Amino acid sequence: MSELLQERYARSLMNTFGPPRLVLTRGEGPYVWDAEGNRYLDLLGGIAVNALGHGHPALVSAVTEQLRTLGHVSNFFTTVAQITLAERLLELLGVEGKVFFTNSGSEANEAAFKLTRRTGRTQLVAAEGSFHGRTMGALALTSKSAYREPFEPLPGEVTFVPYGDAEALAGAVTDRTAAVVLEPVQGEAGVVLPPGGYLASAREITTAHGALLWFDEVQTGMGRTGSWFGHTGSGVVADIVTLAKGLGGGIPVGACIGLGQHGDLLGPGQHGTTFGGNPVSAAASLAVIETIERDGLLGNARRVGAHLAEGLRHRHVIEVRQRGLLIGLDLETDVAPRVAVAARDRGIIVNDCAPHRIRLAPPLVLTTDQADQLLDSWSDILEAAYAPAEGVSR
Ligand SMILES: Cc1ncc(COP(=O)(O)O)c(C=O)c1O
Repeated sequence: MSELLQERYARSLMNTFGPPRLVLTRGEGPYVWDAEGNRYLDLLGGIAVNALGHGHPALVSAVTEQLRTLGHVSNFFTTVAQITLAERLLELLGVEGKVFFTNSGSEANEAAFKLTRRTGRTQLVAAEGSFHGRTMGALALTSKSAYREPFEPLPGEVTFVPYGDAEALAGAVTDRTAAVVLEPVQGEAGVVLPPGGYLASAREITTAHGALLWFDEVQTGMGRTGSWFGHTGSGVVADIVTLAKGLGGGIPVGACIGLGQHGDLLGPGQHGTTFGGNPVSAAASLAVIETIERDGLLGNARRVGAHLAEGLRHRHVIEVRQRGLLIGLDLETDVAPRVAVAARDRGIIVNDCAPHRIRLAPPLVLTTDQADQLLDSWSDILEAAYAPAEGVSR
């Protein structure tokens, strides 16, 4: 069954992602099933998206109810769901501001990129190892040359500095800098944590030069790190925050939030979207926020994340980095793809985000008992990956 579907996929879909690893047919909680009926513990969660897991009743009923009532209206009009979601996000950030809704993280970053142009400056500073998306503006801020080079020239004057190095940042920001864009924790790079005080230094440096500070919270936002935002606790108030991924719990939605007066930088006619802010996505996001609050999922993310990080230590693992349920680990050698296959052979989905790096971004509803499925077979998985002929099926 899967083989036939893979053939149909190859004939009908652009080959941008390589062959799909599985054909999935359904999901429930932290589990998904493939076309052969095999169950997998999903520790990737749609790449940090399925905050409530699969098929969560609160999400299903919010989306169903909203679609039944009013599904799409265009931005000539507004809805209670759209307004309420904007208010809730500003409340969670604890700062006044204005929201522009999008359908994805890249689009949220495109909106923010345009917003920075309204300062009258064009220079931007981003970090090495950054990932901000694949559209032309977001790509211009993404450091990986393999993603960038086929599409150059890219817009903007972007300078890249080593992530976590406040001195390098201070050297790159000038009075011509429109904004500094940073992920509070670098997600796609493999969960790279900055040293303490880095975000505060970025705030000081940008303020000194009249530049905006923009946190890309697309991956780290909405509870992923065990707090509402990856920068929560840093004491820093940013000028722009972008969100997507976990915000809709699987329903496409993103947000570009301008804080304080920066929420007014884009005026009538200067940006737009047909689908952004539609009531179904807004209702989904409100259900995600409500469920995270009601079920204490921020605390759960911290607890289960720490439990996983502790249990993942092993002689083949040289470093584990964890913030909530965003976990990265470095292997001794470049066997991450083999680790992912060995895990899959044992009914567990993990992400090999670099040749020597594994990333986990499971649903925030994951329990320690469910997480133990990985920990119980972790040694086996690593031994199989390090002895490929015996244990790995690829
Ligand atoms: C930090 C960050 N920004 C932006 C994006 C792009 O989001 P999307 O794939 O929804 O366009 C991603 C996706 O991985 C991300 O991790």
